[in-house]
Amino acid sequence: SVPWLDLGNLDDLMDGGECRGVVVDGHKLGIFVVDEEVFVIDDLCSHGNALLSDGDLDGYEIECPLHAGAFDVRSGKALCKPLTRDVRKYETRVEGGALLVRFE
Ligand code: FES
Repeated sequence: SVPWLDLGNLDDLMDGGECRGVVVDGHKLGIFVVDEEVFVIDDLCSHGNALLSDGDLDGYEIECPLHAGAFDVRSGKALCKPLTRDVRKYETRVEGGALLVRFE
């Protein structure tokens, strides 16, 4: 089964912000917090070389900083042009303040 990976203390990771990018085994993950709920999706946009964690979060929508494509952080679903592909979404849970993500 897919292992749970401990990304460390969630508050420390976010440092008061709502978007954060981390690199795990060379894989870029974007962490997004909406109303104290945490979501992890691929940080790399499916359209080009941009990090979603550098974008603007509006509700559950993260807007890519490069061409303004938007994804739903709850699903990784691409919501508008110029996007044609979703990004991956990862299962998360918070345990004792630590952010765990199911990632392989
Ligand atoms: Fe993200 Fe083009 S790189 S919308």
